[in-house]
Amino acid sequence: MRILGIETSCDETAVCIIEAAGEFGANFNFRVLGNALISQTAVHSPYGGVFPNLAKREHEKNLVPLLEKAFGETELACQGVTLTRGLEKILERELELLQHLTEFLKTHGKPEIDAIAVTHGPGLEPALWVGVNFAKALAAAWNLPLVPVNHMEAHIVMSAMRLEQGGSLLKGTMDKIRFPLLSLLISGGHTELVLSKEWMQYELIGQTRDDAVGEAFDKVARLLGLPYPGGPEISRLASQIRGQVGLSHYMAKSDLPISLPRPMIDSDDYDFSFSGLKTAVRKVVEAEELTDERRKTIALEFENACADVLVAKTIHAIEEFGAETVLVGGGVSANTHIRESLAQAIKDYGYNTKLLIPPPNLATDNALMIALAGYFRAQKGEFAKPDSIRANGNLKLAN
Ligand code: KG4
Ligand code: ZN
Repeated sequence: MRILGIETSCDETAVCIIEAAGEFGANFNFRVLGNALISQTAVHSPYGGVFPNLAKREHEKNLVPLLEKAFGETELACQGVTLTRGLEKILERELELLQHLTEFLKTHGKPEIDAIAVTHGPGLEPALWVGVNFAKALAAAWNLPLVPVNHMEAHIVMSAMRLEQGGSLLKGTMDKIRFPLLSLLISGGHTELVLSKEWMQYELIGQTRDDAVGEAFDKVARLLGLPYPGGPEISRLASQIRGQVGLSHYMAKSDLPISLPRPMIDSDDYDFSFSGLKTAVRKVVEAEELTDERRKTIALEFENACADVLVAKTIHAIEEFGAETVLVGGGVSANTHIRESLAQAIKDYGYNTKLLIPPPNLATDNALMIALAGYFRAQKGEFAKPDSIRANGNLKLAN
């Protein structure tokens, strides 16, 4: 099955075409046929965070050029000229996109694909709508079925893949996933621990009560005068002194001159809270002049505090639920210290749990994960009626 994935939930615009076959387990395999992504971080950077209406405008501008690039990479044949009647109604609020798409459809014909998968939530609703309406318009023009995808499920599916470089484009199979499976989802919008007893079945066991961990990275970065997105910036500063202070892993004893709280680390549940940590950073920042050295120390201690809490909760959940596999997904899982701390802690506690984390460039938002999750949902026959598909900023993981 060939499937086109579309992602516009936040500040990445992405499209990806894959060919996939097989079912969950050893016989699943996929190949990327075409892939294109534009990150809007530079556009949002001056605002210190993602500005929803700006994201919407950028998605509208980027989608057709990305589609053109991704299809350009494939060797798929295209047939005939597509009639573009009816698209005006679907894209009545995205007039620029309508114009680009109409041109594209007239000049390209219908490619040999079988379905279109699109993120319909969770995320920023104005941004999600652009992707959803774009997918609806393409599905109408090419007469293809639509698969709505939950963005968080897509992060989980992505983490379950075993990737190989197949020529210039990526291909892959599935890692051996044993259940119970625990997924730690850490991004700019989410901090969740999700338990699965079988593939694509979910129970939310814990989540943040206030800020998401990625949001805390972004806000703390702003306090430190660092650009958006803050995660990579904080990590870069922290790594400059991490080696020197001999703090290499989880709960390593700190002799840093600054110490920050580990919110809810001992609470008797799997919930998180990061807004107090951010406030604690603000107090430290306001207390004394922010020298380069002090900035690095705060970055290091903040990164340690986040890692300690994430690791402690994950370890407790592994223990309580007997998790055999842990998947980590979402932008924050690109963080080297968090990745290494999790691996080290699982080893130190003597668990046999398998830890799977995608490479950093696929841990952040992309359309490959949407195409993959869409494939598995399509296998279950979960297509949407074009009129019923809606963007939902608060979409939950379904059971
Ligand atoms: O999953 P993602 O790309 O988008 C959302 O769905 O939110 O995650 C973006 C978040 C941002 O908050 C960014 O600061 C954070 O992931 N992030 C990192 C790192 N790279 C990205 N956080 C910590 N360390 C990193 N290396
Ligand atoms: Zn994400």
